[in-house]
Amino acid sequence: MQNFILNREIAQLAVFQRIELCSPILKKLRKLLGRYFFSVFLSKYLINPVRISKSYLDLMEKEFFLIKKYFKNNHKILSIGSGVGGLEILMSKKLDSHITFIEKNYVSKKIKYGWDKMNHEAYNNLNLLKKFLLDNGIKKDNFAIFDFDQDKLPDTKFDAIISLYSLDYHYGFELYEDYLKKVMKPETILIFDTIRPNYFKEIYEKVDIIKQDFHTVHKSKRVVCRNL
Ligand SMILES: C[S@@+](CC[C@H](N)C(=O)[O-])C[C@H]1O[C@@H](n2cnc3c(N)ncnc32)[C@H](O)[C@@H]1O
Repeated sequence: MQNFILNREIAQLAVFQRIELCSPILKKLRKLLGRYFFSVFLSKYLINPVRISKSYLDLMEKEFFLIKKYFKNNHKILSIGSGVGGLEILMSKKLDSHITFIEKNYVSKKIKYGWDKMNHEAYNNLNLLKKFLLDNGIKKDNFAIFDFDQDKLPDTKFDAIISLYSLDYHYGFELYEDYLKKVMKPETILIFDTIRPNYFKEIYEKVDIIKQDFHTVHKSKRVVCRNL
């Protein structure tokens, strides 16, 4: 696929959501000048959108490669905390699927990358998410976006649910636990990153670990959960 089409604002969001997209110099400046200055200034003016577009696509292609075998064509997919949705663009195109997004519609002033017990941290803008999807060729009938804080969440059943570095990574699984019971069928697959995979063996029939991160703050594992 050719590079993602994105403007500077979208590239900035992608950097917030995937700090590994930051250049080493920007990471150093962030340490030196602090998170606030990084969030409002450095991350906006000292990035190269063309470079971010390429490295974000590379990263999302790797993510897609890892999980694609769990999806079938025409699956109804729910994405919780997609960020700007690069992975979902690949899924929509390569799997011909409809994607429902649940995300937050604000950017925290001082981006922190830790466990957020109160779920106050967010790094997204839903207008820019929509723009990114449309600009990259996803038809408006093939997606729906829900604001976690404002909208009634969809209550249809999904074939697959994905939440990379969001559910049980930045905030507790408990926030979505009841909701997930409503929207999962026995055969629905649920993929997310967590530091406590064993906890989910009490909840789901089958829990497979498909990736381990040793170099991130959380040292998380990616799990695929299902009941069949
Ligand atoms: C670290 S980013 C990961 C983005 C994307 N999944 C990726 O892998 O590039 C975490 C995302 O979770 C979103 N988020 C935070 N709280 C949320 C909630 N309660 N529901 C849905 N998304 C949430 C943030 O706005 C942010 O975009």
